Amino acid sequence: MRFSSDTPLPQTRRAWNRAALALALSPWLSPGAQAQVLSSSAEAAKGPRWQSNPFSLGIASGQPQPGSVVLWTRLVITEADAALKAQTISVVCEVFADAALRQPVRQWRVQTDAGRAHSVHVMAQGLQPGRHYWYRFVCGNAISPVGHARTSPGVNDAVDRLRIALASCQHYEQGFYVAHREMAQRELDLVLFVGDYIYESSNPQYMLRKHQGGVPKQLDEYRDRHAQYKTDADLQACHAAHTWAMTWDDHEVVNDYANDLDRDYTDAQVFLRRRAAAYQAYFEHMPVRLGPDPANGSQMRIHDRMAWGRLADLWTLDCRQYRDHQACPDPNRGGGRVVMGCEALADSSRTMLGLAQEQWLTDGLTSSTKRWKLVAQATQMSPSGINTPLGRSTYTDAWDGYPQARARFLNTVAQARLQNVVVLGGDVHMNVAAKLRVQPNDENSAVVASELVTTSITSRGMPEKLLGQIRDSNPDILHARADERGYTFIEVKPDGISATFRSTPNPAQADAVLKTQAQFQIQSGIAGLTPS
Ligand SMILES: [Fe+2]
Repeated sequence: MRFSSDTPLPQTRRAWNRAALALALSPWLSPGAQAQVLSSSAEAAKGPRWQSNPFSLGIASGQPQPGSVVLWTRLVITEADAALKAQTISVVCEVFADAALRQPVRQWRVQTDAGRAHSVHVMAQGLQPGRHYWYRFVCGNAISPVGHARTSPGVNDAVDRLRIALASCQHYEQGFYVAHREMAQRELDLVLFVGDYIYESSNPQYMLRKHQGGVPKQLDEYRDRHAQYKTDADLQACHAAHTWAMTWDDHEVVNDYANDLDRDYTDAQVFLRRRAAAYQAYFEHMPVRLGPDPANGSQMRIHDRMAWGRLADLWTLDCRQYRDHQACPDPNRGGGRVVMGCEALADSSRTMLGLAQEQWLTDGLTSSTKRWKLVAQATQMSPSGINTPLGRSTYTDAWDGYPQARARFLNTVAQARLQNVVVLGGDVHMNVAAKLRVQPNDENSAVVASELVTTSITSRGMPEKLLGQIRDSNPDILHARADERGYTFIEVKPDGISATFRSTPNPAQADAVLKTQAQFQIQSGIAGLTPS
């Protein structure tokens, strides 16, 4: 913990007014949590005299827009400061234009309390587009580490590149976050995390380090799980170094859940209470703009769209909250499974995204004027079934289990003649480069989009024998490797995209160094990928 010195906090009346207007437009903030711009430097030093560091979970920035970014922290109150647990605590967030913190830009005071696990979300507005900022939080005599954040470029700005680190699936027990260590050290514009940030369950076979507590079901248990993940120094460093854009998959709640149904066929009302607890804890630990719907805590909007100047539109989709239940389930255990001859797959009314999100995506895609259309979502869109003597197998939890919804998406791309659509995913614990056709694996069906799936940060991949059968049965898959852990570096330029799979052999050991597994190029105007 570092202790505060007096920091100059100049503010103008106009800036205060802008902040007040911004707050009025932020309905997700409870009245007690609304930010106020500070009026004097003395105020910043007011507050608790901490005995132990309240900033031990780090800091984060996320959901950049041209004039804003979300800044996050959560106060940890140990027994040494137990008297503070029941209090409303005031936290100051300071934003600077330089890494040395000599040029203050703005600062806000935010109230937080136990009702939001003492988390702090500041919608830092009134910033310049396409700019780098540095930020920290101050609470009484405690000062947080300094984070780096950036805003996205102006929507009509000519931008010559966007550098993304695509990541997913970071089971704490199954490896170390060496991928985050490398991501933290390299220059990036965005970390794009597409789900399985925490895991609710354990696999006793793979345990390099241990979860505390059992499988979370209640709010406090989900909070503890998130907090444990956030103690990791490499993960904290990656949050401090970069602004993140995020969506979730299933493990943020429970494996293979679909909408209001879990694998145990728990009563929907009971399961939705668990989902509400998981969503609340997710919000409390992430740099995201919106929390659970105040009128219905089991609903929380995570899907979003952002632009990177004229270069790219980036969608982050929600593949869990609104989807139809998996087709042809086992009556004894729900969730995904491998099926053959499942007629329900042909039902055109089934959706992966829910009709509203699907329509929103279609409208956005077909009206986008950006060079690249990057569609980030949780899982693999290209086919991964296996041809067997009895027919073709289908795994029902992934896009293969929602083939009509996938066809609608790719038909939209084909019929609107959209160019430069790239689907980005995770979930399957392997690096994948694939062509996307309206009719998967059919050479007579044109390739209309390209797909990059990143391997997991730590979570174990499937056996090579099974993966070999998947490769043999799916010519649309150009590359598939499940034996390494890491992330994918994606550099988007006007004339092309370059993707580099950075990984280390399974498992990710504490001192591992990543290497390049493979590289692929996507040329502007040509759907599909070529190895380089
Ligand atoms: Fe996963």
